Amino acid sequence: MFPPIVLLFFTLSLSTLIFAETIDYKNLKTPAGDKLPNFSFAGYHQSEIPLPALTTPANKTLSPGSGDQAPVIQAALDSVKDSGGGVVELKAGTYALSSGLLIHSQTTLRGAGIGKTVLTVKNLEDNVVTLGKQTNGAKRGDSVKITDTYVPAGTSTVHVSDASRFKVGQEVFIERGVTQMWIDEMGMTPHTKWLPPGTLVPQPRLIASISGKAISFTIPLTDSLNATNSIMTPIQLTPYVPPTQPSEIGIENLSMRVSPSCSGIALGNTTCSASAVRVSSWTSDSWVRNLDLTGFNNHITTGQYSARITITNITMNRNGATDNSAGYALDIAIDGTQTLIHNCKTLGAKDAKSFGVATQSLTPGPNACIGYEAQQAVESVEPHQRWAHGFLNEGSKVAAVLLRNRGAAGSGHGWTVNNAVSYNTNASAYTIQNPPLGQNYCIGCVGPKDSKQVNNGTFLSYGKFVDPPSLFEAQLKDRGFDFKI
Ligand SMILES: *[C@@H]1O[C@H](CO)[C@@H](O)[C@H](O)[C@H]1NC(C)=O
Ligand SMILES: *[C@@H]1O[C@H](CO)[C@@H](O)[C@H](O)[C@H]1NC(C)=O
Ligand SMILES: *[C@@H]1O[C@H](CO)[C@@H](O)[C@H](O)[C@H]1NC(C)=O
Ligand SMILES: *[C@@H]1O[C@H](CO)[C@@H](O)[C@H](O)[C@H]1NC(C)=O
Ligand SMILES: *[C@@H]1O[C@H](CO)[C@@H](O)[C@H](O)[C@H]1NC(C)=O
Ligand SMILES: *[C@@H]1O[C@H](CO)[C@@H](O)[C@H](O)[C@H]1NC(C)=O
Ligand SMILES: *[C@@H]1O[C@H](CO)[C@@H](O)[C@H](O)[C@H]1NC(C)=O
Ligand SMILES: *[C@@H]1O[C@H](CO)[C@@H](O)[C@H](O)[C@H]1NC(C)=O
Repeated sequence: MFPPIVLLFFTLSLSTLIFAETIDYKNLKTPAGDKLPNFSFAGYHQSEIPLPALTTPANKTLSPGSGDQAPVIQAALDSVKDSGGGVVELKAGTYALSSGLLIHSQTTLRGAGIGKTVLTVKNLEDNVVTLGKQTNGAKRGDSVKITDTYVPAGTSTVHVSDASRFKVGQEVFIERGVTQMWIDEMGMTPHTKWLPPGTLVPQPRLIASISGKAISFTIPLTDSLNATNSIMTPIQLTPYVPPTQPSEIGIENLSMRVSPSCSGIALGNTTCSASAVRVSSWTSDSWVRNLDLTGFNNHITTGQYSARITITNITMNRNGATDNSAGYALDIAIDGTQTLIHNCKTLGAKDAKSFGVATQSLTPGPNACIGYEAQQAVESVEPHQRWAHGFLNEGSKVAAVLLRNRGAAGSGHGWTVNNAVSYNTNASAYTIQNPPLGQNYCIGCVGPKDSKQVNNGTFLSYGKFVDPPSLFEAQLKDRGFDFKI
């Protein structure tokens, strides 16, 4: 006989096993046909290959010297890039920097490990490390009208009035306009400052195939298109030529410290507001891995249209209480697309407050955050500015998950996100809201709903984790790839 306590444990774990609900994530659909975004396209090379090995030999190795080490490290990065790319390795030791470093295409900056190689900074006017040189915007071609009445999220095909000027492999923006009618219908009328009529909401995509007037994309849409009553006008497909896209850039295996600390300093302080790592707009297929960051206020930012960036195994140590007189800082703020944030943590001062992981303005999906953890009581996963779409928060353990209408907050951010999914997460407070004409999901969400907030989002298996344990991995497997980072 088993003693009763063992029996009880046995029964509990058995019932969890038996009753874990299986989510039919492939066929989950709203009445209008909107499906879950396919998040598995996020990450370095769409998560189809692992990141380059950490053990590739270095092409140049530096030892710490006295005084400002930025010029020496920058020269090494430039010379490795000029001779065709490779790895610059910083041996164990402390490297003082008085200005930011820029890493070019095909080049990696690697340390000897956390706590071994340490970059120290006194003044945060510059981002400490920038991945890729900031380039100018895309060159837009002539737009062509999309003729469908409704294109649900999760669809890969649209119909156009004239397909003749498009080619397979071409990059395009699927775009729709913001109208006053849409703003009114979304209940954002008093808060139009950041999302005025005429704004275009873009979804950058690659054309996979063309058949007559039907154009299909490699990645399904993460936001819907609705032509009824011209509530979204125009709805169009615009070809574009991207600017130079820096790629294959890495920063890995080191610590960075700001002293005196900028952690918690009121926003707007010009010597405290830059990031530890900035991924420039249009930088693609690059990574940020194994970093330990201390004394920063904002940690990692990605620019608009940066794509397929993996940010993994980052510890952010907030060592100062937050002066929130000017709002909260952001730990990881993404503006790009196909970003994978993986196994990142915010630790340190319990009275520090920040947005842990956030999308920014019109951030196009798919983007995914897997396994984010935070110690701080108000630390949150919260899309921040207006109308991002296709954001996955999976397996996180945080105080709050907020997928919602921020209304007047942030001087009028309004609706922050559509087609966002909190999946198998554990939080102390959920605020999950459905936009009128859209939806946000909480699937297998464990932890209480915030009783002071409206929770009219789509909850499935609330209070109990679901199968499959990882939506991201399941969707990647459906595409024929195993998740390897
Ligand atoms: C850098 O090192 C790698 C590995 O040894 C090598 O394959 C590559 O050619 C080197 N790059 C340059 C520019 O020498
Ligand atoms: C650094 O790189 C080595 C491989 O060279 C790896 O084993 C180690 O886990 C890495 N981690 C950190 C945190 O630096
Ligand atoms: C910005 O913050 C730093 C670090 O606390 C402080 O030394 C500096 O005085 C602040 N600057 C301003 C303009 O407040
Ligand atoms: C992640 O970073 C920690 C140190 O913070 C290190 O011990 C560990 O090896 C890293 N993990 C991987 C997979 O590199
Ligand atoms: C969720 O987190 C709480 C607080 O840390 C913990 O007590 C609980 O066991 C967790 N629940 C699950 C299902 O992991
Ligand atoms: C859900 O609640 C939010 C916040 O109150 C509200 O703005 C929105 O209109 C509601 N959604 C629906 C579909 O009623
Ligand atoms: C499309 O927009 C119209 C408003 O013109 C609205 O009534 C309808 O519900 C919307 N359709 C969907 C599926 O959201
Ligand atoms: C996206 O994910 C779904 C569900 O896993 C899968 O059936 C589909 O093939 C994926 N779509 C693409 C374009 O690969």
